[in-house]
Amino acid sequence: ARLPDVLRGMPKAELHMHIEGSLEPELIFQLAQRNGVSIPYASVEDLRRAYAFTDLQSFLDIYYAGASVLLQEQDFYDMAWAYFERAAADQVSRAELFFDPQTHTARGVSMDTVITGLHRACADAEQKLGISAALILCFLRHLSEEDGLATLEAALPYRDQFIGVGLDSSEVGHPPEKFTRLFARCREQGLRIVAHAGEEGPPAYVWGALDLLGAERIDHGVQSVHDAALMTRLAKERVPLTVCPLSNLKLCVFPTLAQHNLGALLDAGLCATVNSDDPAYFGGYVNENYLQTFAALPALHAGHAYTLARNSFEGSFMDEAAKQREI
Ligand code: HPA
Ligand code: ZN
Repeated sequence: ARLPDVLRGMPKAELHMHIEGSLEPELIFQLAQRNGVSIPYASVEDLRRAYAFTDLQSFLDIYYAGASVLLQEQDFYDMAWAYFERAAADQVSRAELFFDPQTHTARGVSMDTVITGLHRACADAEQKLGISAALILCFLRHLSEEDGLATLEAALPYRDQFIGVGLDSSEVGHPPEKFTRLFARCREQGLRIVAHAGEEGPPAYVWGALDLLGAERIDHGVQSVHDAALMTRLAKERVPLTVCPLSNLKLCVFPTLAQHNLGALLDAGLCATVNSDDPAYFGGYVNENYLQTFAALPALHAGHAYTLARNSFEGSFMDEAAKQREI
């Protein structure tokens, strides 16, 4: 088979996608109308034109504005269901979704509304699409550890509806050590631990995520190549890196996809995976990330495709028996 058909057709897990980042401009306008929320854009085209980012922060400002249309449980369900339909078309059989409760609770939306809507969509994804789905609650690192601790407390009544916690939002200036106590509490609850690190931030943040937070996976992690000792450790411990090539391109982490280091990470023996991050904002769902990256990096061939798919299941938090069936 041709390589693009292999990439499209192979079963895969998606481990790094923010469900609020799957909110397409059309759905933003539909929900704004349904909820009577006003947004500072005249049309879908006007909003899409604003998606010209220079770095992570320039994206986050627009991403949080887009999320302001989410008010009702049904809104969260509709957003997640739209993602699952796209994921099914891309042969995603396992999806671990990040969500940002603080973005919503700060606007007066309850934790119950957020988690109940998202979890109902996960249950339907399993039943109607055959996608195994799970939720990972992310703390916003630009907010305080105290705010994170209060968020964890508010979420614990729903402990059985999410499998883990992560750390996202503005990275530089908000190092992992800011959240050491919060993540210790999360580990006590038996939650799985991931963290964004080494997207724009230095390798020291990856070390901190591993050693201070107990991260089992690193989200992005592409800056790790600048630290040889870190690369050796990530390879030896097979710490999964959830890489998001189109995100890195749109946020100017790499000037072009041809300069992306995915091939270097794989060739160094790391458990790298391919993911979409915020597909509505970065120009593509997971298959588009695979297709454009392989097209831009001629050193990547079918062997790498197979490795990436296998890594995605190895790096997932599926139970071991289900994982072995996929691998
Ligand atoms: N980095 C940090 N925070 C985020 C991202 C990201 O790529 N996407 C959504 N929130
Ligand atoms: Zn992310």
